[in-house]
Amino acid sequence: MGSTLEWGRHYAMVEPSSYRIDYAINPYMDPAVQPDPVRARDQWQHLAATLRSLGATVEEVPALPQAPDMVYAMNLGLVALRPDRTGSGGRSVVLSHMRHPQRRVETPAARAWFEAQGFTPSYVGREGIGAHFEAGDAFPFRGDLVVGHGPRTDELALRQLAGDLGVRVRGLRITHPGMYHLDLAFCPLDDEHALVCPAAFDDESAHRLLDLVPQPVVLSEEEAIGSWCANSVVVGRSVVMPGCPDRVRSRLDALGFDVVLVDVSEFHLGGGSVRCLTNPLDITVGRDLEPVTGGLLPGPDAAAA
Ligand code: ARG
Repeated sequence: MGSTLEWGRHYAMVEPSSYRIDYAINPYMDPAVQPDPVRARDQWQHLAATLRSLGATVEEVPALPQAPDMVYAMNLGLVALRPDRTGSGGRSVVLSHMRHPQRRVETPAARAWFEAQGFTPSYVGREGIGAHFEAGDAFPFRGDLVVGHGPRTDELALRQLAGDLGVRVRGLRITHPGMYHLDLAFCPLDDEHALVCPAAFDDESAHRLLDLVPQPVVLSEEEAIGSWCANSVVVGRSVVMPGCPDRVRSRLDALGFDVVLVDVSEFHLGGGSVRCLTNPLDITVGRDLEPVTGGLLPGPDAAAA
């Protein structure tokens, strides 16, 4: 059994008052099929209450009326707390540069919110210019940053993240249109285990991810797409999941995880689930680097994908 995940006890969630389907930027969205606003609010509140009941803190971020996808808070930015070697600490956030123009209105609001919370914002490249980066494509695992690229994040962003954050970046090429963010196919559970859906990636990336995770819980394409189970969040040994196929639940039980199911079906209409609705604010990157002088350098396979 691996040690408990070091992050996942503090989240931002964007309240769902503006959630609608105004456009289609992923295969799940259809403006002819709108969410029920009352049910969506109830589901969102139940998710926040569940996280709190497990001991996590949840910050509620106001929504912009003109940003119907902002409820998917995972894409606001990647929080990167810095290891406090100098004594200066450091709360930083790499803001997203969204692939689709419809979502770019979210970023200035995200910036203002993070700044008010004491985070220093940065961008991959320059503000709103250059490589695309969406934070649902990036998660820490065993001291590295695992980053999916293709549908949303540009491969070019990986080298910049490695250099800017001083972390080794493990790049994975996403090829499945239904798993357009890494968080639909990969969920770290602790230092040893993660949910992994190889069908989301090209063969080489799938093999590299399976090599990276000492004991992967492998999901079939049907399991990942049908239940959204990789789009879960982990609070200690509890896995808050939108659905969990029996086979996966048996594996998680055997590994000592407690499965907590929540219904967020209204948000599946927009192409997101539990993870997409939450943004972890307690991610530290670069912790496994040797102390360095004269700047932090990316590791050898930074942006190698
Ligand atoms: N409608 C949103 C989009 O396509 C859904 C985002 C899902 N978020 C996530 N972290 N996977 O951008």
